[in-house]
Amino acid sequence: MKTNQTFTMIKPDAVSNGYTGAILNKISEAGFRIAALRMTQLTQADAEAFYAVHNERPFFGELVSFMTSGPIVAAVLEKENAVTDFRTLIGSTNPSEAAEGTIRKLYATSMGENAVHGSDSDENAALEIAFHFSERDRF
Ligand code: RTP
Ligand code: MG
Repeated sequence: MKTNQTFTMIKPDAVSNGYTGAILNKISEAGFRIAALRMTQLTQADAEAFYAVHNERPFFGELVSFMTSGPIVAAVLEKENAVTDFRTLIGSTNPSEAAEGTIRKLYATSMGENAVHGSDSDENAALEIAFHFSERDRF
């Protein structure tokens, strides 16, 4: 398992608001190499499986419904300390608490519709990458 990779999704709010290019640019400027990239739309089963860790939470239904509401852009990002540095780049879950200049501060709509996902550990990054990309689609 590589520990210098993380997984991201540009969420449906940011894609439909036209921020895909700006967010990918910000990611590149921050020194991440894009190792895989795909626009797709999650099915109900995909979203339920991807966010299974939250399935007891009160916002789970809303989260699944939002994440399946339109296309997302999934990517594998590579950099030293990718997981931690990417969480710093995206900012707090709640955009009103996110630091100035972070992706969520700039592009998120709300706590639920917060523009981007970022893996929270190397273990989850590896699982999430394998969930979304086969070996041949990673470079
Ligand atoms: P993510 O997994 O998407 O990168 O977000 P995160 O780590 O910052 O936050 P997490 O606790 O993992 O929550 C996953 C996503 O669920 C939605 N959420 N809504 N309404 C709410 O109280 C609430 N809390 C979480 C957000 O879309 C969050 O990113
Ligand atoms: Mg999370």
